[in-house]
Amino acid sequence: MKKFRVGIIGCGAIFMVHAYPLHMLENVEIKAVCDIKPQAREMAARLFNCDAYENYQDLLKRDDIDVVHILTPHYLHARMVIEAANAGKQVLSEKPMAISMEEARAEIEAQKRNNVTIGVISQNRYNSASVAIKEALDSGSLGKVLGQRILLSWFKPDSYYANSDWHGTWDKEGGSLMIDQAIHVMDLARWFVNDEIESIQASFDNRNHPSIETEDTAEGLIKYKSGVQTVFFATNNFSYNSPVVVETHCEKGTALMEFDRAQITYNDGKEINIINNPNDTLDEKAYEAFFNQTSSQVAMKTLSEWGVFGGGAPIPVTWKTPRPYWGVTHIKQIRNFYASLEAGVQPDITVAEAFKTHEMIMAIYESGRTRQPVGLH
Ligand SMILES: NC(=O)c1ccc[n+]([C@@H]2O[C@H](COP(=O)([O-])OP(=O)(O)OC[C@H]3O[C@@H](n4cnc5c(N)ncnc54)[C@H](O)[C@@H]3O)[C@@H](O)[C@H]2O)c1
Repeated sequence: MKKFRVGIIGCGAIFMVHAYPLHMLENVEIKAVCDIKPQAREMAARLFNCDAYENYQDLLKRDDIDVVHILTPHYLHARMVIEAANAGKQVLSEKPMAISMEEARAEIEAQKRNNVTIGVISQNRYNSASVAIKEALDSGSLGKVLGQRILLSWFKPDSYYANSDWHGTWDKEGGSLMIDQAIHVMDLARWFVNDEIESIQASFDNRNHPSIETEDTAEGLIKYKSGVQTVFFATNNFSYNSPVVVETHCEKGTALMEFDRAQITYNDGKEINIINNPNDTLDEKAYEAFFNQTSSQVAMKTLSEWGVFGGGAPIPVTWKTPRPYWGVTHIKQIRNFYASLEAGVQPDITVAEAFKTHEMIMAIYESGRTRQPVGLH
């Protein structure tokens, strides 16, 4: 069996959510990791028995690495994706694909020029609830979409930003609420409607996070070419991360998604309810066993000697329980990416596919800044 040899750039909070599924895939071998923080890269290298690099360009120089995962702060994504593609690597990047339109277009050009595969994470498309709604809409059983609403009410304490050297900044995060958190639900909603966007009118503001530059609240209206209109409201000023809501109102019924639940109601009274099975994506027992094996224990012991688990250091704590609030389906997208490489076909979410949501987010920012509607095509 051909083994894909993998390098991972960025060993922060999301690291284990990629590394563990990769470790479990039979046709993948983690060869190297990279992080500018010595403890993060050393820890990751010990857990997966691989090489550690400080400089990502040294990792990219290696001929025995086929695929690179990019898990760094947003402003580094485009640069790293393009350099990896130029080095002939296949690439899987965390969202967002970039923080500007120019960078995003350059990634698509780099993908074509180098004839490599570039995937972008949008793992919530693989949630059972999202899949059920997408299938119902695409099958035509709900008829034409008439309208859609999106509601995101989350909680981001000041400490979330205080503990990060890039969140809450325009130059490194590229925005906050929309490009980092709401991007997931905006992507799902756009994917459900499955049409080209004609124009967007939106506004954004920072209402309750004086320590950061970027937005914590946004709202707007998205008009699709077919005439469908989506209204959205998103805020990080609620008291907890409540389930995101996407309601897609159609001729023959309504598809309601509330985080990991889907309720599809037909006008004739038929109703379908889907609830995500959390064990569908992460085998908790196997994950625990991974951390209990001798080599992991040794690595963890080193970590605690370094005091990394103490003093509120946030990074490896998330490695112990990689169950972010919104979505645990990375494993499914990662499987699709490698199965596509194996079969020589494009994965579900390529840079070209991710671009459709990227330009939506960029247009929201542009409209918010100019206070004008922004046309997309
Ligand atoms: N899909 C999801 O649900 C999801 C969830 C969380 C984070 N993310 C994404 O994952 C990415 C990383 O987020 P995170 O929460 O892990 O951030 P983080 O700050 O915890 O980790 C980023 C890591 O990148 C390292 N880094 C910075 N500059 C580097 C460089 N030049 N070379 C090598 N390493 C460098 C940092 O030292 C840090 O360890 C972001 O794009 C974020 O949006 C996605």
